[in-house]
Amino acid sequence: MNSSNPSFYVTTPIYYVNDRPHIGHAYTTILADVLARYYRLLGVPTHFLTGTDEHGQKVYEAALRNRLTPIEQCDRTVVRFQELWKKLDITHDDFIRTTEPRHTRVVQRILQELYDRGEIYAADYAGWYCVPCERFFPDKDLAEGNCPECHRPVERLTEKNYFFRMSRYQDWLVAYIQEHPEFIQPASRRQETLGFLRQPLGDLCISRPKKRMGWGIDLPFDADYVTYVWFDALVNYISAVGYLADEARFRAWWPASCHLIGKDILTTHTVYWPTMLKAMGVEMPRAVFAHGWWLVGRDKMSKSLGNVVNPMDMAERYGVDAFRYFLLAEMTLGQDASFTEEAFRNRYNADLANDLGNLASRVLKMVVRNLDGALPAIPPRTADEEGLIATTLGAVGHMRNYLGSMQLDRGVAETIQAVREGNRYFDRMAPWQMVKAGDTAGLQRVLYSAAECLRIVSGLLFPIMPSKMTELRRALGLTETAARPRVADLATWGGLPAGTRLQDPGSLFPRIEAVAEKGGAVVAEPAAPAAPAPAPAVNVVTIEEFGKVALRTARVLAAEAVPKATKLLRLEIELGGETRQIVAGIAQFYKPEQLVGRTIVVVANLKPAVIRGLESNGMLLAAKSGDTLRLVTPDGDVPSGSSVG
Ligand code: MSP
Repeated sequence: MNSSNPSFYVTTPIYYVNDRPHIGHAYTTILADVLARYYRLLGVPTHFLTGTDEHGQKVYEAALRNRLTPIEQCDRTVVRFQELWKKLDITHDDFIRTTEPRHTRVVQRILQELYDRGEIYAADYAGWYCVPCERFFPDKDLAEGNCPECHRPVERLTEKNYFFRMSRYQDWLVAYIQEHPEFIQPASRRQETLGFLRQPLGDLCISRPKKRMGWGIDLPFDADYVTYVWFDALVNYISAVGYLADEARFRAWWPASCHLIGKDILTTHTVYWPTMLKAMGVEMPRAVFAHGWWLVGRDKMSKSLGNVVNPMDMAERYGVDAFRYFLLAEMTLGQDASFTEEAFRNRYNADLANDLGNLASRVLKMVVRNLDGALPAIPPRTADEEGLIATTLGAVGHMRNYLGSMQLDRGVAETIQAVREGNRYFDRMAPWQMVKAGDTAGLQRVLYSAAECLRIVSGLLFPIMPSKMTELRRALGLTETAARPRVADLATWGGLPAGTRLQDPGSLFPRIEAVAEKGGAVVAEPAAPAAPAPAPAVNVVTIEEFGKVALRTARVLAAEAVPKATKLLRLEIELGGETRQIVAGIAQFYKPEQLVGRTIVVVANLKPAVIRGLESNGMLLAAKSGDTLRLVTPDGDVPSGSSVG
């Protein structure tokens, strides 16, 4: 949040209504919800917008596939998102659909104004068009003749279209990004956009002829065309808060504090959107934050791999709060993260069952049993409590700072550290022995302090697990209003009043046991007799199939950049007695001179391919994770041509 702006306005991307929501959609929306809830606790006026992107080719094609009209497709699918947000306890203030008149009207007014001012013009356009991405690409951007974004085949099209003079704003945009380091976050994404802007920026085609695809907002100045879906969709961030309709409301929320997006829609949000706003004379959003992708294990999530994670199922099986917690705790903002049910169970059992649930249960049980359910007067602090108080109050400060830098996973980790400290304190002080020894003052001090630690951590975790933390806070005897914490109340030790009546709510986070292993244990999946048989593992190859791949070591003799290709290097390699050429997409990770003389591993029997007019005879192996790529190399000297396997 920008400190000069007294309000917090957060947005999610608006989701295409072509399919059911998946974990990626759920993640961004939960993240936005958690941020919005934290800012509300801070007492900052907060506005949280989400919605659906209902025009364009993807939705149109889904409608055709489902034998529906496009608007029927939208009306049916939007409900899935709305129901999911309800299930996941999402507290958005507004949900915008781009088919609503409050949005289409604004898009049309913007278009007309930009057209009248010469910011939009008509021209013939020839280019490569990718149907799934709904984008034209110039020759130079194609990847081996295919779409550089989704790698599917492209079609050659020539037609009259309308263009937004985006190129005009290139220099301004570069300067703006350089002068506003917080505008694109994290820094790696900022570099990515600046890298993109090193090449000349073209004008943006913002129309689609109706004869090709008529599902969109009509261009106000040419009835044969509809608006390109991105030019329509991005406007939602301002149309929803009253741009050109309700000046006071618009001023109250705009500029947005943070547009949350996935890394794949970086260019549209950090190049198209700011140049559009600049042309309109509208202030820039404060920040665009691009998070990484959720992988399933190590694989990309895809329908064809059959590994799409359905958030509704996860919330039903493991509980909404635990699911929200996992997503937030597990993803380091900016990096990719991996989802598996095993990882989910491990984190749940470690953080929630063993740490937080355990502390809550031991404290509440002992207060009920040994103090008659009532807290004593605030006991004097002794040296015994120092560590606990410092770690717990420290977590409040950490959470606040990490919130500012969008590192919620770290804020969560600090909070769980405080819980662990609470358990250690409890073990060290052994209040059960105080009961035996009749040390009431000691017992009161220990139970009060541990309960106070719970009051504070439950407040810090409240935005992430609103129902479970409300349950815990009620058990701690906090009144209805206090059950909803205020950050200011969390920063001081001693907030639980004397005489507060505590209850034991039973197990907050029962351990999840692997269903097959422990019949009688608490299971996450309510003993469903008809659990579907596990699907056959995808991507399994037999040893014979694997044996067909000839992996060999090779020595790099020469390396150079491929002209006009930002990602490619041409390598000459020695493979046994043979010299070969390969083209590899590693230019962003290695300079040519770093490669010469190194021994690498290549697939030697890959069918040759022509990349950018160069024959590539083999493929090198590299390990990739998020934004990092490292070559696979043998860890000692071996001659080139050695087999690897
Ligand atoms: N409609 C556009 C956004 C327009 S915003 C003005 C769109 N929609 S989408 O439904 O395809 O994707 C929405 C978001 O989901 C994107 O931010 C995308 O990055 C995100 N994700 C899609 N798959 C994902 C994962 N596997 N993991 C995390 N997020 C991912 O793009």
